[in-house]
Amino acid sequence: MQNFSYYNPTRILFGQGQIAALGDLIRPKAKVLITYGGGSIKKNGVYDQVIKALGEHQWLEFAGIEPNPRYETLMRAVQIVKRENVDFLLAVGGGSVCDGTKFIAAAARFDGGEPWSILAQQAEVKNSVPLGVVLTLPATGSESNTFAVISRESTGEKLGFGSEHCYPQFAVLDPQTTFSLPARQVANGIVDAFVHTVEQYLTYPVDAPLQDRFAEGILQTLIEIGPQTLTNPQDYALRANQVWSATLALNGLIGCGVPQDWATHMIGHEITAEYGLDHAQTLAVVLPGVLRNRREDKRAKLLQYAARIWGLMAGSEDERIEAAIASTEAFFESLGVHTRLLSYDIKNAAGAPKKIAARLTQHGMTKLGERGSITPEIAAEILATRL
Ligand code: NZQ
Ligand code: ZN
Repeated sequence: MQNFSYYNPTRILFGQGQIAALGDLIRPKAKVLITYGGGSIKKNGVYDQVIKALGEHQWLEFAGIEPNPRYETLMRAVQIVKRENVDFLLAVGGGSVCDGTKFIAAAARFDGGEPWSILAQQAEVKNSVPLGVVLTLPATGSESNTFAVISRESTGEKLGFGSEHCYPQFAVLDPQTTFSLPARQVANGIVDAFVHTVEQYLTYPVDAPLQDRFAEGILQTLIEIGPQTLTNPQDYALRANQVWSATLALNGLIGCGVPQDWATHMIGHEITAEYGLDHAQTLAVVLPGVLRNRREDKRAKLLQYAARIWGLMAGSEDERIEAAIASTEAFFESLGVHTRLLSYDIKNAAGAPKKIAARLTQHGMTKLGERGSITPEIAAEILATRL
């Protein structure tokens, strides 16, 4: 196992009715800014639960954080935080609201000039406004990690950052808040959590059998309950297991002491920036291509994945590997998340490999993957197989 440092201070409150505990989690004298998205929380009753739970706390609100949250929008919230002396941020929504709120938290305390440099130059975040989360979409793990991915409309970029100052202090996970999700977002969430797990598992062996089995447990759970929670969206037990799987897939635990890939995510972010696909849609397109292209680098783990996740024991090594990748694609398709670029409504898909490779170069993403072996040229080769 490789050396690691693990720290995760996010307190999780899981289960029905847990939003009611919010008031006790936030300092009584804090001035709270509630941040949210396009209004789903007003339709499904989550907003009302949050306001009630805040009780005597002083609060303001900031609405309109978009999916793939935009820098321009978030900077308006930063002005409010500064002007109103807000000292606690409460994100209520999915990964985009969580990510956007982390950025607001960091940008409001940033003294290094234009806060875009936190993303573009990875300028150090030394401080932040404390934040908490009420999660309504199980997918990203953002509710219990340090990362955020932000888009800038004026330049068409989508870039990430991470800072220990951006860990949410708490995350309230009530699976009932997710019952109102459209099927597309439920499916996206399953694919995103699946790919987070794969990116920390399907690399090369480092004598870390516990991490492998953590990861395999999450993958198997998602394969088992994913299709069921899609067809039974109001089944609490099924959804509860999706929610917890998604949090554990990216709260840092399964990645301790093991190599990590993340090439699929980095290529995927560029596809969202260029063509506007949902985050999970990009992952479903890219991952099978990365696994096929890097099959020699990943051979031992691909065989383990084939055997333990898909029960594939017969045939040659190459046959088992190909069958495992084909099973992965079929799983994504079975959820309704398509695995080919041409399945999405985008113009000039044939030009995608070149365009995405140029974007990766522009953003310094020239050595991706657990071995740093995926250059922009190889990313273009991969995408050429995914049209
Ligand atoms: O804006 P509202 O009205 O709330 O609607 C949202 C949005 O339209 C809706 N929604 C959320 N909860 C709902 C609901 N609709 C009905 N009922 C509910 N309970 O769902 C839509 C999508 O929401 P979004 O937050 O964008 O989805 P997701 O959670 O998948 O987040 C995706 C973003 O997270 C980033 C992605 O790049 C993308 O920008 N990621 C963040 C990561 C992290 N911080 O660790 C890692 C991921 O790999 C990912 O990159
Ligand atoms: Zn993701």
